[in-house]
Amino acid sequence: MKIAILGYGTVGSGVGEIITKQKTQALQGIEIAYILEKTKNLHKSPLMCDDIEKIVNDKSVEVVVETMGGIEPAHSFILKALSAGKHVVSANKAVIAKYLKEFHDCANAHGVKFLYEASCGGGIPWIHNIWNVKRIDEIDEIHGIFNGTSNYILDHMAKEHAPFADVLKRAQDLGYAEKDPSADIDGYDIENKLKISASIAFDCDVLQDFPTFGIRNVRKEDMEYAASMHKTIKLMASAKRKGTHCYAVVEPVLYDLSYMEAAIPENFNLTCLHGTTIGDLKFYGQGAGKLPTAHAVVQDIIDIKEGIIQPTIHPEQSFVYDASLMSAPYMLRTTLTESDVKQILQDAIASVTEYQGLLYVTCKEITTAQMHQYANAICKLDSKAFLARIHQEAV
Ligand SMILES: NC(=O)c1ccc[n+]([C@@H]2O[C@H](COP(=O)([O-])OP(=O)(O)OC[C@H]3O[C@@H](n4cnc5c(N)ncnc54)[C@H](OP(=O)(O)O)[C@@H]3O)[C@@H](O)[C@H]2O)c1
Repeated sequence: MKIAILGYGTVGSGVGEIITKQKTQALQGIEIAYILEKTKNLHKSPLMCDDIEKIVNDKSVEVVVETMGGIEPAHSFILKALSAGKHVVSANKAVIAKYLKEFHDCANAHGVKFLYEASCGGGIPWIHNIWNVKRIDEIDEIHGIFNGTSNYILDHMAKEHAPFADVLKRAQDLGYAEKDPSADIDGYDIENKLKISASIAFDCDVLQDFPTFGIRNVRKEDMEYAASMHKTIKLMASAKRKGTHCYAVVEPVLYDLSYMEAAIPENFNLTCLHGTTIGDLKFYGQGAGKLPTAHAVVQDIIDIKEGIIQPTIHPEQSFVYDASLMSAPYMLRTTLTESDVKQILQDAIASVTEYQGLLYVTCKEITTAQMHQYANAICKLDSKAFLARIHQEAV
């Protein structure tokens, strides 16, 4: 089976490495026919070309792997390949979160598959298992640690009592974090993964505009305050559904140290779902990196080769955002005075504590939507304020 790889960076070259070096039975017969790269890189391999038309017009190419990243031209190249009757495998969460339904519709119209296991949770077989659970169950909740860089930062801050900026710098030196780390630390990368995961889990159109609060403002004092209560802080994605109502959020969460979520080390991920009969199911593994991510891409290629049917999304029901589905107590840390905070939070406040010269406000159980509105109002006056949900056991 001939494939073409669009973009030969970290993930694309990992796909090439697995296909050429691993010798399992399942990989036999998979052959790289083209690598689409920019003109400046063409000297690197005789397989490289810079003309997408050549690839989509070659009838012998059955699968196109998109590992270029970004929105355009990835979006138009994926549509071109699907429309030319080629299966497409992509790792590109940004373009998938935006155009998932369009890609599925185009694939269905042309009788081909659009698969994207690597886009959420890297090497973790997450999407595959959501489909599997849905063969029997309704999934009413998903949550998890979907970003290795932010987990690395929080884990090392907690273990070493180190400041955010120092650990971020180390993550950048190790190649875990980009020079511009905002997608990882402000939660946008997680937003994309949550949109994709929730679309499949709930059969809903891609979620838009849910509240997101990242870890840019987390301080070593916050980690120490959490530790003093036998807790730690993790950056979590969460989505819930009830019938045709749903809600989603990306935000830091305070977990008791006894929870699995609290124990996820380094740049690992944990992805979790709750289904009608299976109950809680959790998947742990490497959420990024050249070979783990390429592994997930190649699993999709093998599924296509072996004719394993992957279902498609059916977003028939229109979902409504329902803020009442998510509520919790929250912790807010600020340098504002207690009276300034009281003016904004009013009767949401349960208690106020001073810790290492900072004000820590605990809020009573409140809807996530309302709490994020309060946090935004606080951040207008104190741009370095920090918010974390206090995790409660589901009842
Ligand atoms: N890295 C991970 O661990 C990971 C994990 C999960 C998902 N992903 C996703 O996988 C995708 C690829 O990530 P990556 O880390 O492999 O990125 P990367 O290392 O930057 O690789 C992308 C490659 O595509 C090339 N490229 C970009 N636009 C192109 C175009 N128009 N035509 C031809 N080639 C083009 C780039 O060339 P230049 O370098 O010359 O621009 C580069 O070689 C992204 O969507 C990312 O979100 C990555």
